[in-house]
Amino acid sequence: MASEKKQWDSSQLRKYDLNFEPIPRLHYKDPKIDELIKANQPVLITDSNIVKPAREKWTLEYLERNLGNSGHTVYVSRNHKFKFYDDKKILNKNNPKGVEFTPPTKRVEMKVFEFMKRLREWKRGEERLYLQQILNSTVGPAIVEDYMKFDWHYVAEKKNKYNWGELTSNLLFISMEGNVTPCHYDEQQNLFAQIQGFKRCILFSPDQFECLYPHPVHHPHDRQSMVDFDRPDYTKFPKFKNLKGCETVIEPGDVLYIPIYWWHHVESLMRGGPTVTVNFWYKAGPTNLEYPLRDHQKVSIMRNVEKMLLEVLQDPKEVGPLLRAMVLGRYNE
Ligand code: FUM
Ligand code: FE
Repeated sequence: MASEKKQWDSSQLRKYDLNFEPIPRLHYKDPKIDELIKANQPVLITDSNIVKPAREKWTLEYLERNLGNSGHTVYVSRNHKFKFYDDKKILNKNNPKGVEFTPPTKRVEMKVFEFMKRLREWKRGEERLYLQQILNSTVGPAIVEDYMKFDWHYVAEKKNKYNWGELTSNLLFISMEGNVTPCHYDEQQNLFAQIQGFKRCILFSPDQFECLYPHPVHHPHDRQSMVDFDRPDYTKFPKFKNLKGCETVIEPGDVLYIPIYWWHHVESLMRGGPTVTVNFWYKAGPTNLEYPLRDHQKVSIMRNVEKMLLEVLQDPKEVGPLLRAMVLGRYNE
């Protein structure tokens, strides 16, 4: 079994002051996978054919030859962290209601050959790069052919069984070793398929919301934790100490189910070489309000309350005082 020939060791994992449970690792035919997905719990699916053609062919050389000649989206960072931000929420002349904000990374368009050259020549301490490109009609015909041969039957079966919405996109990630996508949640179901190299994925349930302190929804870092895992500020974020999570290291051929609204921190292993991943993002299915509500539904409700207050108050600075006035001393029990 692939997991027996482990090709990494714990010195390649970044160190955090946290302990994690292992995420279950199950053969793709194991019926327990369905129980976990149904319960909105993460699971690592092994030995499936979901992205078999990519796993067999998508080396960096093949991707360089076949990804296509249009520009690709590449993030550039001075350190190992690539914290996502939403341009639409940044203050500028077209967006006077936005937040004053200096992006932590640069987003650039880069041709694949330029990206690969920089990947090959990169030395520790230099700017880091991370390609994150939606697989769309600009990719070359060989990639399209491989994509058509993904095991669509298996993924469609999961989508239908669990009433997920439409497939919105497949994002291709090509990362330098050691890059980190800091902790955040997405509003989509995610099948995260590893193609080359190893990624450590640390996940937290939506019920850990209070320990992870997400930025407010109007902020460009909406859905991202405010806590810097490398140097947590326990004075500002005391409940981070109580955080409970689970982790796994995914290897080529593994597909990790990241349930909607689950927090995830992803790191390409240090000294492990570049990594290649493709995800399958599915919209949330129709909401089924059965009580008691599930934790991810409560997060969605909190987001809606925040958005509604912003809409009526017109000033994000008024949201906190109003919520405090409403709750403190009244809803303490
Ligand atoms: O770096 C990453 O692979 C991030 C993936 C994700 O946020 O889904
Ligand atoms: Fe994500």
